[in-house]
Amino acid sequence: KYLGIIFDLDGVLCSTDEYHYEAWKAIAEEIDINNFTPKDNNRQRGVSRMESLEILLEKSERKFTDKEKLILADKKNQRYKELLNNINSFDLSDEVRVALNTLRKAGIKLAIGSSSKNAGLILERLGLGNFFDVVVDGNSITKSKPNPEVFLKAAQMIGLQPSQCLVVEDAISGIEAGTAGGFDTAGIGGVMSYPKTTYPLRDFSQIMNIVFAN
Ligand code: G6P
Ligand code: MG
Repeated sequence: KYLGIIFDLDGVLCSTDEYHYEAWKAIAEEIDINNFTPKDNNRQRGVSRMESLEILLEKSERKFTDKEKLILADKKNQRYKELLNNINSFDLSDEVRVALNTLRKAGIKLAIGSSSKNAGLILERLGLGNFFDVVVDGNSITKSKPNPEVFLKAAQMIGLQPSQCLVVEDAISGIEAGTAGGFDTAGIGGVMSYPKTTYPLRDFSQIMNIVFAN
């Protein structure tokens, strides 16, 4: 049934969450928000940089102009990119590496569907720069998750219908996007028990069971 898999990147293939959190927290402190927590950061999963900033600014009493917002987002990204320099191919877990290679050998199309504009850089650092059949990221979409655009575009580019693809996600926004696009979803971490998640993934290797059993 599943001829293609569309993977979210952050929180699925690699763990960039702590870097996003650290970079956003530094921005928060600069504008006197001292109660930015991992829980707030969790709500930023899967949503674009500017929408993530809005989530952070909910905690401020001040109003910010569009220009100020762009400066803050840009500052965050500069800090975040410095932190991404810590990533290398050892950050790709054996579990993920084995699953990707096994699926590839079985002829399954493999795509990335990410909201991040840094997806290319992260894939490069993980040693996956040329691995995927298709990469659709924050640079090639107009609406970020929970809008299904990123996944629909990826499915179209690998030449498959949504019903033939599995979406792998760690974010509520991503499960919503997959569901809205007509995809079955596999959920990692916090979204394992989310009601709209089709398959909970306790560990990454279970993807192979799902794909080969269906
Ligand atoms: C991923 C992360 C989000 C982040 C978004 C944009 O979806 O889960 O937390 O806001 O990418 O990332 P970027 O690298 O473009 O700032
Ligand atoms: Mg994610």
